[in-house]
Amino acid sequence: MSVAAERSQLPFPRPNILDLAPLYEVLRRQGPVTPVTTPAGDPAWLVTRFEEVRELLSDKRLGRSHPEPERASRITTAAVQDGPSGNYDTEEADHTRMRRLLTPAFSAKRMRMLTDHMQQLVDGYIDQLFIEHDTNPDGVVDLHAGLAFPLPVAVICQLLGAPEKDRAYFHTLSERMSNTVIGEDAHRAREEFSRYMIGLVETKRPQLDEDVISDLVRAQSADEAFDYDEMVRLCVGLLFAGHETTVNRIGLGTLFLLTHLDQWEALTADPDGRVDATVEEIMRLGAPGDLGLLRYAHTDVDVAGVTIQRGDAVILSVNSANRDALVYTDAETFNPDRPERAHLGFGHGAHFCIGASLARTELRVVFAALARRLPGLRLAKQLDELEVRTTITGGVTALPVTW
Ligand code: HEM
Repeated sequence: MSVAAERSQLPFPRPNILDLAPLYEVLRRQGPVTPVTTPAGDPAWLVTRFEEVRELLSDKRLGRSHPEPERASRITTAAVQDGPSGNYDTEEADHTRMRRLLTPAFSAKRMRMLTDHMQQLVDGYIDQLFIEHDTNPDGVVDLHAGLAFPLPVAVICQLLGAPEKDRAYFHTLSERMSNTVIGEDAHRAREEFSRYMIGLVETKRPQLDEDVISDLVRAQSADEAFDYDEMVRLCVGLLFAGHETTVNRIGLGTLFLLTHLDQWEALTADPDGRVDATVEEIMRLGAPGDLGLLRYAHTDVDVAGVTIQRGDAVILSVNSANRDALVYTDAETFNPDRPERAHLGFGHGAHFCIGASLARTELRVVFAALARRLPGLRLAKQLDELEVRTTITGGVTALPVTW
């Protein structure tokens, strides 16, 4: 039995993303590494301090796949499938190949093209919110349904090269996949998506463009081993990795700003000057927070006097790391002016978020546009009346606002 199994007493924390601070503070004080039991009853190590989380994220002795895959527990498998880097739980060679295939999608040129598109999308969603605001008798609109949820789907459609008319399909697909982590419907949704992709690839093949599907078709012509399955895996992976994560950062960012009105007013007074720092602070304090990033030890690893044995699951909490008082002054305060700008909200090391520049741009476009066009924005409900999403990356189900 591993040390983790003997020592694990603490039930796995499943904190509310809006209220993570007290729990993580206690854990960090106890030490950088805490033995925990996952909801499925499996032992795991939870790492909560910044230095250790960062070091372990770039430690090659830990990997995303289990050294003996048949021993990987059910819950940790589920976490891998639904975590920020979702479907990319692959061997190292596959991982390198995946990053190589996706690199052109995130080039500076593509980002410029996508930024113009994002700007138009965000303006369109805000126009719609104005209409709803003026027609609803109470003037309350849902910023989650009207902006935070649809925008990242639309951006991913554009990134992939799916036609605009299919956006609603992607929207439902993403919902179905995230609602049922490993359920039947998620499998059905995946199979449907496979068929859809085959159709789409054939439509696009005669006229390739600047998008992921065209990149993959080009790679396919150059590499015989590359098939539809891999194409689907890469595209579903982008939807998994890039949708919920961005939706929830827009939601949490709005909450941080509207519960710190001094910061909101500072942003509305100078959107261009303050939006970058504001987005970084949203990424720090609102980092994915529930399960954390999952790794397995491929050999025994000593961390701060604890031996993590080969095969043990290790959960690296980037949210806790980003609140570590050893690194950040007044760590729990939302303060875009803080001097410590580095954070682990997009991970670190070999798996560092490939979509970070896209996500950052998307958040900047959103918060600059909201600050410019809706300076009087306010929450229409108290924080404790909001319903929290239970997905792994955390967020709210609705965001009632008014102005
Ligand atoms: C990986 C966070 C947006 C694509 C990651 C990781 C984190 C993360 C923490 C590291 C996972 C690990 O080490 O296990 C976020 C957050 C986002 C966001 C908070 C939104 C604010 C996006 C977007 C895309 C994307 C928009 C693409 C459309 C990916 C991919 C990986 C990844 C493909 C896997 C990289 C690898 O394993 O090498 N993300 N991400 N992400 N992200 Fe993001």
